[in-house]
Amino acid sequence: MAEAASNLQIDSARLWDTIHETAKFGATPKGGVRRLTLGPEDKQVRDWFRNACEAAGCEVHVDALGSMFGLRKGRDMSKLPVGLGSHLDTQPTGGKFDGILGTLAALEVVRTLNDAGIETDTPICIVNWTNEEGSRFAPATMASAAYVGDYTTDDILSRKDAAGVSVGEALDSIGYRGEEIVGARKLGAFVELHIEQGPILEAENKTIGVVDRGQGIAWYDGRVIGFESHAGTTPMPLRKDALAALAEFVLAVERIAKAHGPNAVGTIGEALIAAPSRNVIPGDIAFTIDIRSPSADTLNAIDKDMRSAIAEITARRNVEIALDLIWRKEPTIFNPKLVDAVENATKALGYSHRRITSGAGHDACNLAGVVPAAMIFVPCKDGVSHNELEDATQSDCAAGANILMHTVLALAGVAS
Ligand code: GLV
Ligand code: MN
Ligand code: MN
Repeated sequence: MAEAASNLQIDSARLWDTIHETAKFGATPKGGVRRLTLGPEDKQVRDWFRNACEAAGCEVHVDALGSMFGLRKGRDMSKLPVGLGSHLDTQPTGGKFDGILGTLAALEVVRTLNDAGIETDTPICIVNWTNEEGSRFAPATMASAAYVGDYTTDDILSRKDAAGVSVGEALDSIGYRGEEIVGARKLGAFVELHIEQGPILEAENKTIGVVDRGQGIAWYDGRVIGFESHAGTTPMPLRKDALAALAEFVLAVERIAKAHGPNAVGTIGEALIAAPSRNVIPGDIAFTIDIRSPSADTLNAIDKDMRSAIAEITARRNVEIALDLIWRKEPTIFNPKLVDAVENATKALGYSHRRITSGAGHDACNLAGVVPAAMIFVPCKDGVSHNELEDATQSDCAAGANILMHTVLALAGVAS
């Protein structure tokens, strides 16, 4: 690599300012961000991002699921671009870094290359994937999953949020149903920078996580059907209390995940009593389950144990519990050559590092199914994420962006 390129550093202050500038779109009183995918705040940040990409000389293309691609030309346009990026949507009480760091660091890489007058041999492409979070529309990472062919575009367009609005309607309402066929804009590789969202790097005082694996994920929709009846007149032995049954099942999921630990986690994050009332015994509850493990066998074993727990609870309590597996993402093994490229960049720049498994789902996990993909993690404060208090330091964000840039340069090559 040319001397100028091998010593190149991103502009840490500019990256930090950019993260804080975009955090105003959906800012919450506690310092976090609420930017549900395809809502009005998502439109604001998308418009900002489009302008910033264009100002940095990128051609912006939008696909039929709203994923945004900012193309920076390379010397050899016959080569497939190296993709880099993440997502700009957040959880309902999300932070300023989850996804945002990786997308804005990708922009910062382009800005830095522009300032240094560096042309890459292969084009590079900044990506903002639609709906990574999966909290408004399920499943998570749906646009990158459709991009790699795991779902049809029509299937994803028809998915509805809790208010009955479809992905297609939401895209139209913010003007981001793009022209491009999903998956048509091919990439030769994909690299994603992200905060770790867990406690390991911070505890071990390491700056960079070289991600070599991603956990598998199973999402379920569940429903408990009991019988609504009078809270004052129905004797305890005669009740079919859906909430009491769900409470037992919540504890069963916790026990089962622990029994398959340490590399398994299970969460019931949503439970909605239909027509709740203080003096009515709950009779109908919708809930969700999120199960994760780096092992597919463990996901299978947990599924079996959950169904046994349901059989026992429903027989004893005379209620019904239905489980519907709505998403299963197999564990990811990232491309060894790209993982080595991240590790080499980390060594060359002298940052402390370790190999790490991603506990969270990421668009890069989908991309890994069709192109060489890799991820770079940086620490976040107390390992906290999916929370308004999510935090990371300026120097760690800059370190991650530098590794992103040098990994991309190693893949794209310097033309001059
Ligand atoms: C995405 O944020 C996930 O649930 O891991
Ligand atoms: Mn994320
Ligand atoms: Mn997230």
